[in-house]
Amino acid sequence: MRKKVTVVGAGNVGATAAMRVAEKELADVVLIDILEGVPAGKALDLMEAAPVEKHDSRVTGVTGDYSEARDSDIVIITAGIARRPGMSRDDLLTTNMKIVGSVVQEIASVAPGAVLIIVSNPLDAMCHVAYDTSGFSKTKVIGMAGVLDSARFRAFIAMELGVSVENVHAFVLGGHGDTMVPLPRYSTVAGIPITELLPGDRIESIVQRTRQGGAEIVGLLKTGSAFYAPASSAVQMAEAILKDKKMILPCAAYLQGEYGINDLFIGVPVKLGAQGIEEIIEITLTAEEEKALKDSAAAVEGLVDDMKRLKNAGE
Ligand code: APR
Repeated sequence: MRKKVTVVGAGNVGATAAMRVAEKELADVVLIDILEGVPAGKALDLMEAAPVEKHDSRVTGVTGDYSEARDSDIVIITAGIARRPGMSRDDLLTTNMKIVGSVVQEIASVAPGAVLIIVSNPLDAMCHVAYDTSGFSKTKVIGMAGVLDSARFRAFIAMELGVSVENVHAFVLGGHGDTMVPLPRYSTVAGIPITELLPGDRIESIVQRTRQGGAEIVGLLKTGSAFYAPASSAVQMAEAILKDKKMILPCAAYLQGEYGINDLFIGVPVKLGAQGIEEIIEITLTAEEEKALKDSAAAVEGLVDDMKRLKNAGE
């Protein structure tokens, strides 16, 4: 039987993710949105591209009809409002909390066995909403942040050194936001740590650019935020799960004691396979890196507290 990937939110990230899943023939795709016509229109457009792109994935688009998502293997959640210039991730909190909560409630009733890949921002906070609302096991709620942040880091390293992106591996831990923790020590070009290839000040400026990667694109686009790289990153995670690849990728995972952090979603290296997160990999950190990760965790904790406050105020 064919695999099924549902993508909730047929906007820029969602439609691009649907396209990549279909073109890689990973699964049939269901696109869901609240907008009338848009998911159906984008799905039809993608189906009409299929003969040219040479794939036989079926793409369906529906408005609010979650029965189409029944028994999905993976659900990628991109629903929400995107960040606009001048808007902090935190400003998104109230709106996206309600949107993600309602979407996950629907999904949990029709696809209780699915793995949820959360993309909506603020990412780590939305993972908490999805985890609490779904009641799914912690191995099946995964946030897409680290793959994107490390892809940005890799792209900048490759540009700086004039080497193939395929030679570059990079690691970014922590929350998805200004407090993310890029790890130059664990970032390599053909196995060589970048600390041996680039002077400290160049690494520092690449790290800063990575931290500001989302904002840099928002500043250029003016209306809307990045979507090609976010979609690619979510689809790489989906592919690792659908193909049971046991691939190690940095993802937001629910920690219970790992890295000395408790009951919090934060970006760490995980092994992705058919069961979702099959292992959380703990790497040794220097005192400085550990402090940066703790600071990042504190920022996520702040958001989780804010959500509790907002929820109580709204009740
Ligand atoms: N149910 C389903 N879809 C919804 C809902 C809902 N309750 N609320 C909003 N949406 C849809 C919107 O109608 C829109 O089509 O989510 C889509 C979001 O698409 P865009 O506005 O194009 O945003 P996009 O750039 O795709 O970003 C989506 O991913 O990277 C994050 O910060 C980004 O949180 C944002 C999300």
